[in-house]
Amino acid sequence: MNILLIGSGGREHTFAWKIAQSPLCEKLYIAPGNAGTQAFGENIAIQVSDFAKMQDFCLTNRVDLVVVGPEEPLVKGLRDLFQADDRTKHIGIVGPGKAGAELEGSKDFSKKFMKKYGIPTAAYETFTKETVEEGVSYIRKQQLPVVLKADGLAAGKGVLICPSHEEAESEFKSMLLEEKFGAASHKVVVEAFLSGIELSVFVALDGSDYVILPEAKDYKRIGDGDTGPNTGGMGAVSPVPFADAAFMQKVSERIVSPTLSGLKKEGIDYKGFIFIGLMNQDGDPFVIEYNVRMGDPETQAVLPRIKSDFVALLDGIANSKLAAYSLELEDYVTSTVVMVAGGYPGTYEKGRTITGLEDKTLEGALVFHAGTALSDSGEVISNGGRVLGITGKGKHLNEALDCAYRRVNQIHWEGVTFRRDIGQDILKWGEK
Ligand code: AMP
Ligand code: GLY
Repeated sequence: MNILLIGSGGREHTFAWKIAQSPLCEKLYIAPGNAGTQAFGENIAIQVSDFAKMQDFCLTNRVDLVVVGPEEPLVKGLRDLFQADDRTKHIGIVGPGKAGAELEGSKDFSKKFMKKYGIPTAAYETFTKETVEEGVSYIRKQQLPVVLKADGLAAGKGVLICPSHEEAESEFKSMLLEEKFGAASHKVVVEAFLSGIELSVFVALDGSDYVILPEAKDYKRIGDGDTGPNTGGMGAVSPVPFADAAFMQKVSERIVSPTLSGLKKEGIDYKGFIFIGLMNQDGDPFVIEYNVRMGDPETQAVLPRIKSDFVALLDGIANSKLAAYSLELEDYVTSTVVMVAGGYPGTYEKGRTITGLEDKTLEGALVFHAGTALSDSGEVISNGGRVLGITGKGKHLNEALDCAYRRVNQIHWEGVTFRRDIGQDILKWGEK
């Protein structure tokens, strides 16, 4: 198969690494890719929302399968466009159409969907500019903290957890009346706060069958001990010990099954990944959000645990063959530490030379690029906020963490920072 992978982050480097291991892959292209992906295929200078160029490229290069990494091209209708065009409708696509992508593209849509199909989630109401006053009185009746969510995509910044009613009210007004998040906050979801431990669950769907992939835990805050502002994700571990068979049974019965049957009842033919962000509240799972793609950096921890052929999984998703796919896992656990530019998630510098990348491969350590590029002189330089994701493997989490951090300590650039406590909460949890 000739495969076009879309995206440029650590998730896509991990996809490229795994796809290239498969004998089913003839040729891999990555649009636009990063300095790491080119070891596994050919980087193509097409931006993720340039659909016309992508279609031309697919036709010229006889692409059989398009694998979409990020949500944006899905929400903008990449699948719909390819399928409506006789020239490209034969091409398999991993990623839902516009209707399915609304699960991530609109919080109001996803909350309505959960309510309609009885999927456990926080109580909520949605408001617009016309209903600001009703919204304010709703907020005043909420327990603290109050959670506000911009309806549309807001680059991971659209969720606010407000410790007081005053703050919630003023943020709510600035979202609706001053377009704090642009068009994304024309509608605002106000919801109850869920307390507990978060978990990321990944499901591969082919329209009728599904496979649940290994779960992971993400570390969202910038600072050790979950302090400071939210980021795209500073690390991950997989598996997550509290996600035992009994808990996953509840996830499957209360969340995955009704989600799939809900999609069918809505007439949505969903072929792609669903990433369900869950809260484990006293042993019961509640959905925080749906994403219509894999997680980043969770992918960097999850994919190395998959032993079976990854292209067979992708082909199974796109061409409704998942019933014949059997998921086999490696017998080790993984942990990923994300190395970021100083200043991230605020303003940060790019263009720093990264040292220590040359192959000092420790047994099991994997280096995945995210925001990297090649300088004119061929050096790898930083080119984003999240720069690298280092995945360690081990029989136990302790070993996987040791493996990851030893590799992290070999790599350097000016201003680099990373969390030093990835996985520590899980180790403590295990001691209880
Ligand atoms: P994201 O939409 O990925 O920016 O996620 C926002 C983050 O806010 C989630 O990962 C949770 O940590 C948190 N969050 C969102 N909704 C709730 C909620 N109802 N209760 C508690 N935390 C929440
Ligand atoms: N790590 C969270 C996300 O990919 O949205």
